[in-house]
Amino acid sequence: MRLRARIATLLGTSILVMTAGAVPAAAHPDPPVDGATGGGDAYFPAAGNGGYDVAHYDLDLGYTPQTRALTAHADVTATATADLRSFSLDLRDLDVTSVTVDGTPTSYTHEGGELVVTPAEPLSEGTEFVVGVDYGGTTGQPEDATGALYGWISFADGAFVANEPEGASTWFPVNDTPADKATYSFEIDVPEGTVAIANGVPGEPRTADGRTTYAWEADDPQASYLATASTGNYVVTDDTGPGGLPIINAVDADLDQAAAGAVLATQPAMIEYFETVFGPYPFGSFGAIVDDDEEAGYALETQTRPIYSGVPDESTVAHELAHQWFGNKITPALWKDIWLNEGFATYAEWLWEESTGGRTPQQQFDEAFAAPAGDPFWTVPPGDPGAPALFDAAVYSRGAMALQALRVTIGDDAFTQVLRQWADRDEFVPVGTDDLRTLAEEVSDQDLAAFFQAWLYTPAKPAAPTPA
Ligand code: TRP
Ligand code: ZN
Repeated sequence: MRLRARIATLLGTSILVMTAGAVPAAAHPDPPVDGATGGGDAYFPAAGNGGYDVAHYDLDLGYTPQTRALTAHADVTATATADLRSFSLDLRDLDVTSVTVDGTPTSYTHEGGELVVTPAEPLSEGTEFVVGVDYGGTTGQPEDATGALYGWISFADGAFVANEPEGASTWFPVNDTPADKATYSFEIDVPEGTVAIANGVPGEPRTADGRTTYAWEADDPQASYLATASTGNYVVTDDTGPGGLPIINAVDADLDQAAAGAVLATQPAMIEYFETVFGPYPFGSFGAIVDDDEEAGYALETQTRPIYSGVPDESTVAHELAHQWFGNKITPALWKDIWLNEGFATYAEWLWEESTGGRTPQQQFDEAFAAPAGDPFWTVPPGDPGAPALFDAAVYSRGAMALQALRVTIGDDAFTQVLRQWADRDEFVPVGTDDLRTLAEEVSDQDLAAFFQAWLYTPAKPAAPTPA
């Protein structure tokens, strides 16, 4: 059944007729399944889906900031990982007007943020298919599980688009799990005068009839929480990093251009420094989107092009840059492991500060470790903080302290190896905290079970680290 269906998909139904008699029918073929409508993350059970793997999102987005009207078409190229009778994409708060599979209009339902698509014929395992979705609506200001604005955040001059953890579904149909990386193409059509900035590298903008279309290609596969397509009255400047790396910076025209330019000018040197510590910069471009949306109130490491809600300080730029290795290239499968992003990025801030003549990581550790045992800071275990505490100070600061404590425990040389080898892993194999423990145990030849338990999973202040 499976083989015949695949041949039929590839070559057309006439082949099926010709070969039907030659291929013996399986006695009890497994019936096709309905792909799961969740991705298996206990923090966000509805985010992500099962039964397919996305390779590419092609997003055509028409947006008008004044009316917050979004009119869009997505072509999602995916491969079935099971014989599928139906499958689901995540899409919230927007209306779907048509769905096709490989160009054929297809029946669907859209309820509770799940777009469930039932093709006329089941998709057999291994088949590549393209889902086309026409959709749109009026965008808002969505909030994440911690109460922070996220996703497609509408403001007067454009949208600040920052999806972490599962806000991509507020603007495109998506397998909204960090475990399914894909490449992206964007065409963003906005009123003339508005600028659209996304991940990767730009094409030539085209203007006609009072609207401009901006094209962006993101060829480095990225998790959906790292996609952005932000709009505003940006001033765009180009810079160059190590080895000719294109750096594209967009700064809101209402901001202090000199102040923003001064901090962004440190990016090439930061990349060069982090390459000496972590290994080669993992992507084909970099840069920044600096907006004037203080209401959003944070930055996000959107792939190749971090987004900031105001002019950042140097340590924030270092933090978002370090995420390109830790989080964007090396990506946790589950949100409970977010400290693998934030602890490493915070530790990278400490390294950058030291490299520019400031405090050492041990001094940073000592300052944070001074919090008394009774301080509520110690009650959040960074290795499993819970969804409402996803961005708790413990995830960042205690996460970074755990790395410094690890350094003290296993020694500088072993720790240096751990950082490098962690950054050198396969970007398509999502990680968990046990993978880091295993690596650190191999490199140091120490049993680190109790260490990881105390620093990451215990809601209490750990003992001060000592060299083994
Ligand atoms: N991951 C972001 C960073 O550390 C921070 C972030 C994303 C965040 N969403 C948030 C912080 C919501 C506070 C609230 O760069
Ligand atoms: Zn971070």
